[in-house]
Amino acid sequence: MRQTIRKPRVHKGSIAPPGDKSVSHRALILNAIAGGTAKVTGLSGGEDVASTARCLRDLGVRIEPGDAEGTATIFGSQGLLNEPGDILDAGNSGTSMRLLAGLLASQPFLSVLTGDRSLRSRPMGRIVHPLSQMGAHIQGRNNNTLAPLIIRGGSLKSIEYTMPVASAQVKSAIMLAGLSAEGTTVLHQPSRSRDHTERMVMAMGGSVQEDGLDLILKPGSLSSMDVNVPGDISSAAFWVVAGLCHPDSRITIKDIGINPSRAGILEVLEAMGARITLESPRSEGGEPVADLVAESSDLDAVEIGGDLVPRLIDEVPVLAVAACFAKGTTVIRDAQELRVKESDRIRTTVNELSRLGASIEETEDGMRIHGTGSLVGTRCASHDDHRLAMALAVAGLVSDGETVIDGAQAASISYPQFWQHIRELDEGSLS
Ligand code: S3P
Repeated sequence: MRQTIRKPRVHKGSIAPPGDKSVSHRALILNAIAGGTAKVTGLSGGEDVASTARCLRDLGVRIEPGDAEGTATIFGSQGLLNEPGDILDAGNSGTSMRLLAGLLASQPFLSVLTGDRSLRSRPMGRIVHPLSQMGAHIQGRNNNTLAPLIIRGGSLKSIEYTMPVASAQVKSAIMLAGLSAEGTTVLHQPSRSRDHTERMVMAMGGSVQEDGLDLILKPGSLSSMDVNVPGDISSAAFWVVAGLCHPDSRITIKDIGINPSRAGILEVLEAMGARITLESPRSEGGEPVADLVAESSDLDAVEIGGDLVPRLIDEVPVLAVAACFAKGTTVIRDAQELRVKESDRIRTTVNELSRLGASIEETEDGMRIHGTGSLVGTRCASHDDHRLAMALAVAGLVSDGETVIDGAQAASISYPQFWQHIRELDEGSLS
């Protein structure tokens, strides 16, 4: 799908982005292995979460959609899944593949996990290695580092593991395996990554202790828990940046999860001088939630690196758009993980924003962006990467002239209503 987008004269209104993708995956997976029945509301309707639901159904889990969009009832299996009759397809979703691999490591049957071309090129050694140390038998292409993964699960023993990367997917895979392993699993994290698994496991009766950056997990069963999934801060980020960079804008973004392990984007934008207000802060299902209001702002450049990076890793493409409108040079470093996302997001972001006239350079572990205060619409491409498609759409909303995005349908991986929401907000900015 090719989408043409123009800057609207004014950019004002209210948006409710879809449910958080990370929380949705976990609400499905943890309730699938729990004992009891759970109702989940606000589930992300994106293709990634649909991939997790499809794989769980293929493993014998009963998941019944409710009448309202984003609702489902999950009938817990008490950890007893069925051997799937065919290959499990995680589509484009790294979270589905890595978390399900952790789950399947302890199941006494054979399963094969695959995904699309992008997912089959992403590193799986990072989960194969610790899960194998726990006693799982996992094989994959390229010396067991690439999917498809063949998993012969069985009884596991716990590990003490020093994680080489700050990855919530790796952490969660090991935690899911550790729930059924013999003994206490200890994880040493290099820095904090999103902690939705820890929060949900604890709320469902599991035993997870945090000691600084260390996690101590005891095996045990979980009790089903109803979850109201908050709105996705990673989706909200597109509206926030569009709101800040457009000269006549005030956007309210409703019901957004602002878990500190995810909210690095807000900290950085505030440091850049952004006018963002958090309204009606509250707590829902163990996650902090608020409405966000973003208004036209004069931004200053910042330096982003170190521990902050895992807390905003998915927002870097859209932050790069914000940096084009900031005064000075923004430097993003320590973000080499971006090279192994749905696309090499350092390269694709730099190349595509360059087409729009950005003054941006690729570095080994990030990028440098010299704010020029403007972009000029032209033809660009998503590289089948949902976050890049939406970051380019934001660029289109604030660029002069017309921006044409090839592969715009990629947005539906995490945000199927994205183009519809732009249309609702700015009738006339799309054609
Ligand atoms: C996710 C963790 C992050 C993030 C991804 C979702 C999760 O990946 O980029 O979009 O739900 O656990 P890593 O944990 O591999 O950094």
